[in-house]
Amino acid sequence: MSIVETLRSVIRVGPIETDRIERRLRRAANVADLRRIARRRMPGGVFDYIDGAAEDERTLAANERAFAEVSFRPRVLRGVGSIDVGSHLLGGELAYPLVLAPTGFTRIADPAGELAVARAAARAGLPYTLSTLSTRSIEDVRAVSDGRLWFQVYAWRDRALVREMIERAAAARYEALVLTVDTAVFGRRERDVRRGFSLPPTIGPRTFVDGMLHPGWTMAFVRSEPIRFANVLGREVGDGASPVNLSDYINAQFDPSLSWADVEWLRSVWHGPIVLKGIQTVADAQLAVDHGVDAIALSNHGGRQLDGAPAAFSLVAPVADAVGGQIEIICDGGVRRGSDIVKAVAAGATACMAGRAYLYGLGAAGERGVDRVLEWFRADVERTLALLGVETIDALTADLLA
Ligand code: GLV
Repeated sequence: MSIVETLRSVIRVGPIETDRIERRLRRAANVADLRRIARRRMPGGVFDYIDGAAEDERTLAANERAFAEVSFRPRVLRGVGSIDVGSHLLGGELAYPLVLAPTGFTRIADPAGELAVARAAARAGLPYTLSTLSTRSIEDVRAVSDGRLWFQVYAWRDRALVREMIERAAAARYEALVLTVDTAVFGRRERDVRRGFSLPPTIGPRTFVDGMLHPGWTMAFVRSEPIRFANVLGREVGDGASPVNLSDYINAQFDPSLSWADVEWLRSVWHGPIVLKGIQTVADAQLAVDHGVDAIALSNHGGRQLDGAPAAFSLVAPVADAVGGQIEIICDGGVRRGSDIVKAVAAGATACMAGRAYLYGLGAAGERGVDRVLEWFRADVERTLALLGVETIDALTADLLA
């Protein structure tokens, strides 16, 4: 064969991708790739707020490591011609066992913020949990989504404010309340301390060069309307019109005296399902059952609160042994692949929650980055089931884990 013939048989000139976002997304094969792209695109302070965690970030690392340390026991020759990854949580359907976790101040990753994430979640057939500290309001998010929405609650000292938000969420057809219980006081996020990071982010002597080095993000930030804490606009608690140090803000505004009595109170003002997010022991999981809570999220807030807290995934099996069947169990922390979701469900969880994973997608490529992450997760879950010799989510059992 002549060189020309060989070349002719191997050279393929496809159409050039003209869509800039698609070009960017094509370079990514997984969440870690999107994290790298997001890191390049965002100012360091913004990336570190999202990516960072408390103190030595040991719990952050442990969340991911816990999944890596457990391997599968795949079965073969079982006929997996019709895989179905659909499942159920709190009486509703999930396209696969995942809920989008609440993340504060989502507009710092991309101007469309929570609207983009809510739309992507609805397209994927998954519930989206809006944070109390969101940068789009309860009502604005409902206006762009007919999907399942949950609302995350922090215990403001001003309980009338909490009650008002709960009533707004009910009026806007949010179906579940997620009370965060791991934030009696704010964790020490040392990356933010070093950067002097504020919310909303500010452009000042310390951040000017960082902003100039990330022109795409900075142009989008200055062109879009100012970032505000949309659920408390104009309220005296502060809505971000004057930027705050988050640690000072949360320690001043949130109530460290939150207790099981408040869970009872929540029951009296909210008539739908309640999820406690931040349960980290079997003893507290049992108390959640005793208090008639509908679901618990085993969570250490993505390692952002108590450094040294146990990895979320490591709690699933003991908690499922103690209270499985009496309460729904969500595993939140360290999910970077669909196979992590499969491991959590096999260990006894009903579903997982993930926050950073979609924020990396949002920071790397906006709404389409979130779509991409949720598509990958679904494909991962399908492929993992097939390779495990299992056709349905219900058939996932602990004997598939080593
Ligand atoms: C807010 O909830 C945070 O974890 O930063």
